[in-house]
Amino acid sequence: MSNKNLKTVDLVPKAADFLGDVVKGLSAAPKSLSPKYCYDEVGSGFFDEICRAPEYYLTRVETAILDQLGTVNLPSNQPIAVVELGGATSDKFRRLMPHIANVKMYMPVDISRDVLFGDAAKLAADHPNLEVAAVCADYQQLAKFPWQEHLKGKTPLLFFPGSTIGNLSEEDTTALMRICKAIIGDSGFMLLGCDLMKPVDVIVPAYSDAGGANARFNLNVLRRINLELGGDFKSENFRHDVQFNHEKKQIDIHLVSKVAQDVHLAGHTFHFKEGEGIYAESSRKFDRADIEKLTAAHGLKPVTWWTDPKEYYALVLLKAAP
Ligand code: AVJ
Repeated sequence: MSNKNLKTVDLVPKAADFLGDVVKGLSAAPKSLSPKYCYDEVGSGFFDEICRAPEYYLTRVETAILDQLGTVNLPSNQPIAVVELGGATSDKFRRLMPHIANVKMYMPVDISRDVLFGDAAKLAADHPNLEVAAVCADYQQLAKFPWQEHLKGKTPLLFFPGSTIGNLSEEDTTALMRICKAIIGDSGFMLLGCDLMKPVDVIVPAYSDAGGANARFNLNVLRRINLELGGDFKSENFRHDVQFNHEKKQIDIHLVSKVAQDVHLAGHTFHFKEGEGIYAESSRKFDRADIEKLTAAHGLKPVTWWTDPKEYYALVLLKAAP
């Protein structure tokens, strides 16, 4: 495809070491498996199922807020360049775009090359007056990327939706916020999606829906290990487990071994005690004060909050604090 308004930049991110990561994760105490390995084709289907589950409010509420954003006037003499981190598909940007008065450029950054470049080409074709510059990269590569060169003459709006910030460790949050601040500098903006703190009896079912989509998604990593790495996990011997950690205000997701058992993989034997968990991921929930504190630590401050009537979720516009 050759669109004049399309540019692709491939930083050739290193492929993940699935076997190495799994062996390391299962050898550690406590055991863990990264949720990024849940997302093969089958797993992505399960994730879509999660997003459609009646209990999983996040996607629906964020979409509704985006659609009802109203005109966002970003004070700037320059056209706006929206940089989206984790924007393999432009679905959310397509919803955001009509609300940003003088948007001239879209720069999605993602690791999934084919989806990213394919979708960017479609977006460029649909919007001939929009410059689309898709960057295939992993998070580690972003610190050294020449953002200024690509964003010259434009004011950046860094778009980080999905409350993905809530899934990052403290260390990764700091690294990510540093990159965001470096991209937007002193005159740019950031639009951050955050899942807000709310009654726990609303949060827990979102991650343990009655239809079982969350469980299928979480257990999918075991199926992948068997299929691609030759493991002998018996999925029926594990259950999806969700706990709310009140102290950290986060959902903690595990796979729990229902019985004492051994699992074999690539010459290793992994022993599980009955009731032993494999840590999958956490999803933090934020109060406004948490977001204020988190962003202030990186020289940013909230200027506008958009929420739903129940205040389940927020999109917050941030700018550099002098
Ligand atoms: C897409 C990362 C925001 O934390 O709600 C949902 C991931 N994992 N159910 C979330 C997820 C299991 C989701 N995020």
